[in-house]
Amino acid sequence: MEVCSADPSLAETFDVYYYNHFSLPSFALRFLESKVSNFEAKEDDIYLVSYPKTGTTWAQELVYIINSDLNFSAAKSTPLNERFPYLEMLDLEDTRVENMPSPRYIKTHFPYSLLPSSILEKKCKLVYITRNPKDVVVSYYHFARMLRKTAYKGTFAQFFERFLQNRPTYSPFWKHNLEFWEHHNDPNVLFLHYEDLYTDPRAGVKEIASFFGKILSEEEIEKVIDHCSFNNMSKNPSTSQIDQENSAERIVGESKFFRKGKVGDWKSYFTEEMDQRMNQWIENHFRKSGLTF
Ligand code: A3P
Repeated sequence: MEVCSADPSLAETFDVYYYNHFSLPSFALRFLESKVSNFEAKEDDIYLVSYPKTGTTWAQELVYIINSDLNFSAAKSTPLNERFPYLEMLDLEDTRVENMPSPRYIKTHFPYSLLPSSILEKKCKLVYITRNPKDVVVSYYHFARMLRKTAYKGTFAQFFERFLQNRPTYSPFWKHNLEFWEHHNDPNVLFLHYEDLYTDPRAGVKEIASFFGKILSEEEIEKVIDHCSFNNMSKNPSTSQIDQENSAERIVGESKFFRKGKVGDWKSYFTEEMDQRMNQWIENHFRKSGLTF
């Protein structure tokens, strides 16, 4: 396996290393080098997997609420990061995940090819969420500007180039998506699109419920949608702590984690030329796959 540091000619402030065809942050590398072989999945574990900025947090809360039979009190009293920890952020001594009650809810940005093998061997439930890369690059640009240690100082146009060069952590976006798309029909995989949840949340909630073998009444569906709405998640301390608790890591005021939560915000950032280039890029990478955005 090859590890090498970021290309100095790009004058990057990103914490990014190449590893098995992916750009990874150093904490993910540490996990792969020290913890991955010891990681023991349990058969009833639930993994939320995604490329960053695709709606991960939203999908985590939806999955948690639905599969916990609408345990709103637990969801409100316990921070999402504790109910649903971030796999590769766990340091060596962290036994939180080992000690979690079943079913364990775990988030990761690892692509399929880098998931700990016991997750795949045990055929754990994997929920993958993706989003139109045009909105992802805009969301990622704002997020990168907030990161205290590696705050991105370039323009959106420069970040756009960086995205097409597969530089932001967990890139290439296309490879991350295609690896999972190959498994979208596996019975243990649910493949979600941000845009579908946004335009028809009722259908999205039903789809997630059915994946977990749950049947919800119309009233329950409405409650789930309301609890997981952008407005409520940005106000609910258990989910909005993602903004506040991490102030040591984030530059507060630069942007917000719960920024806009919209489909099509890219139109305020893209030039005509960027739009054409991204269309071509999507066409080149996804045409043969059947995965559309
Ligand atoms: P924007 O930056 O476009 O607003 P992730 O959780 O993968 O980091 O994704 C973050 C993106 O999801 C942000 O997008 C954020 O606003 C959006 N998001 C978070 N919660 C949401 C919700 N309940 N409904 C819609 N979008 C949400």
